[in-house]
Amino acid sequence: MKEMKPKTLGVLIIICLCCWLPNWKVEAGAKNNFELQTDNFTCSSEDVKSRILKEYHCGISKSSKRRTWRMEFMLLQPVADHDFFMKIVLPRRRPLTDFVLLNVTTDGCQLLANRNQVPLLRLGRNIMERFSNFPKQCPFKANYTYYIRGFRLDLNLLPAVDMETPVHVELSYQSKQQGLRWISGYLEARVQRMSEKKRPK
Ligand SMILES: *[C@@H]1O[C@H](CO)[C@@H](O)[C@H](O)[C@H]1NC(C)=O
Ligand SMILES: *[C@@H]1O[C@H](CO)[C@@H](O)[C@H](O)[C@H]1NC(C)=O
Ligand SMILES: *[C@@H]1O[C@H](CO)[C@@H](O)[C@H](O)[C@H]1NC(C)=O
Repeated sequence: MKEMKPKTLGVLIIICLCCWLPNWKVEAGAKNNFELQTDNFTCSSEDVKSRILKEYHCGISKSSKRRTWRMEFMLLQPVADHDFFMKIVLPRRRPLTDFVLLNVTTDGCQLLANRNQVPLLRLGRNIMERFSNFPKQCPFKANYTYYIRGFRLDLNLLPAVDMETPVHVELSYQSKQQGLRWISGYLEARVQRMSEKKRPK
């Protein structure tokens, strides 16, 4: 595994998480034969008494070839003030400790409005426009199905990514009022070398 600056990789991962554009024609460069393969995406909620969250669904598409992940939820009451939490970890074999690429909690309303100060998150929010129907400002409405879906992770779009590694991403929305994470998502993915066969034409 060659070294890559953590920050660079962070940007790449965020871009990849967000950047699947179904119609982009990609000329696969000689160096960029990597893709981010989604293995699993699950959700949980701390809102066991259903004070905030009415329902939620998370998962990955069944098609094993071009896997995407999705998250959908409906709220019982509008949520204005909230925190957004995101952690990106590269698990490593013992005795190495896992590499924490990103571990931030930030104001959710600022993030929705894209006034966030963390460049990675700003970038992510921008690109997310294409994949979600999240509001551009607070609050999240009640009785409305919000979704993030169709994410496909393709490193071909990026400058050289030169490593194979597992990637774990955790993201949560937390109500400031009730202090509970009403929804959390856990993504397991891998940066992996594409086989010749699988490379898009
Ligand atoms: C996905 O993650 C969940 C929760 O950790 C686990 O129960 C399930 O077995 C995983 N599925 C796969 C295919 O790895
Ligand atoms: C992430 O940050 C929180 C709060 O700053 C800290 O408590 C936690 O241990 C950190 N987690 C990791 C994996 O670094
Ligand atoms: C959401 O819908 C339920 C009925 O399905 C209704 O009782 C409730 O008042 C609605 N909440 C809001 C905030 O509109």
